[in-house]
Amino acid sequence: MAETQEKVVVRGLEGVVAAETSTSYVDGVHGRLYYQGYDINDIAEKTTFLEIVYLLWYRKLPTREALNRFRSEIVSEMRLPSPVVEMLKLTPPNSHPMAVLRSAVSMLSVIDPDANDVSEEANWRKAKRLVAQIPTIIADLHRIRKKKPLISPDPNFGISSNFIYMMRGAPPEEVEMNAMDLTMVLHADHGLNASTFTARVITSTLSDMHSAIAGAVGALKGPLHGGANQKVMEMLLEIGNADKVQEYIESMLENKKRIMGFGHRVYRVEDPRARHLRKYSELLCGMTDQKHLYEMSHKIENIVLKQKGIYPNVDFYSATVQHAMGIPPEYFTTVFAASRTAGWIAHIMEQYADNRLIRPTSKYTGELGLPFVPITDRK
Ligand SMILES: CC(C)(COP(=O)(O)OP(=O)(O)OC[C@H]1O[C@@H](n2cnc3c(N)ncnc32)[C@H](O)[C@@H]1OP(=O)(O)O)[C@@H](O)C(=O)NCCC(=O)NCCS
Repeated sequence: MAETQEKVVVRGLEGVVAAETSTSYVDGVHGRLYYQGYDINDIAEKTTFLEIVYLLWYRKLPTREALNRFRSEIVSEMRLPSPVVEMLKLTPPNSHPMAVLRSAVSMLSVIDPDANDVSEEANWRKAKRLVAQIPTIIADLHRIRKKKPLISPDPNFGISSNFIYMMRGAPPEEVEMNAMDLTMVLHADHGLNASTFTARVITSTLSDMHSAIAGAVGALKGPLHGGANQKVMEMLLEIGNADKVQEYIESMLENKKRIMGFGHRVYRVEDPRARHLRKYSELLCGMTDQKHLYEMSHKIENIVLKQKGIYPNVDFYSATVQHAMGIPPEYFTTVFAASRTAGWIAHIMEQYADNRLIRPTSKYTGELGLPFVPITDRK
């Protein structure tokens, strides 16, 4: 008993350094985020999602030629194998898209041509298929549920524009292309967050890449992680207009309820991703006659900051950005997943390259040495 009592439990593993990575660095004190050394503020609005996937995987920015080649390779993998489309059709219409995505990734794993090959070359092939196919799963699911024909990817678009195109059936406007690239770029990686840690734990058992991604999707689904963006939109729609914001938020805070899209385990100042998304939220809400949604968001931000000293995180303004692009709230977290697949894969490859089984220990709080009573004598 004495040995177990001496163990110090770090709840939520806060502050525990559990891996080495060069993929991204979150500077929570100064509110900065770096991808492979590049400050997100310098690259966010100047790069496409595919450029960032390339950067996170190959640790350097691509030349124009390398990017074009990479785009062709990825876009050629975007179509889903027909068993996955059939599986999507079988899912109950009210099942959550994140639950469907998690299941579809599992389905992909059993029909992947490299299913039983865990070599580095096979893993990179799987990586390309996963980052290409996950946006298509989301777009196809949406169209199946709307009883609309599926759209094939356009080889002239990258991942983000193809995602809007395949979901909506009409090519995106330039501002939407920029907004979707920005959204996906800003969600691409974020240190050792809960879903990335999940992916690394699964990888550390030398399990396969699809298992790690399916597990990561499951972790991201929760409202304390990626699921917060859907909750933000539901809150805005429930409040309805800017006049009701003050009373609603004050009552939430008085009742010690959490305001979704606020707070962060690492940032003590503003989340740098929120700043870029705030700008696009204002722009897109204005362009789509939904200025009130931006005004409500801004009002909520001021109240929560004043009363609790807490800043919005990436999920807060990504909700209105996605809503203004016509994405239904229940799909918001799947967009986060499609983007974070880039980072998950970079971490999975880092883990494979320098693996040690991740197996922490626990502090036992139960009893020891209880006398065994055979079932015939138990009362
Ligand atoms: C992200 C989150 C889980 C981080 O939690 P954490 O590091 O464990 O922080 P804590 O739960 O210890 O919170 C510290 C304090 O801030 C408060 N707080 C944190 N987030 C809050 C929020 N969103 N709304 C209201 N209060 C919040 C807590 O109540 C606590 O206050 P107290 O000390 O008076 O009890 C948390 O901020 C949260 O639940 N946010 C809402 C969900 C969300 O947006 N998730 C997406 C993250 S990118």
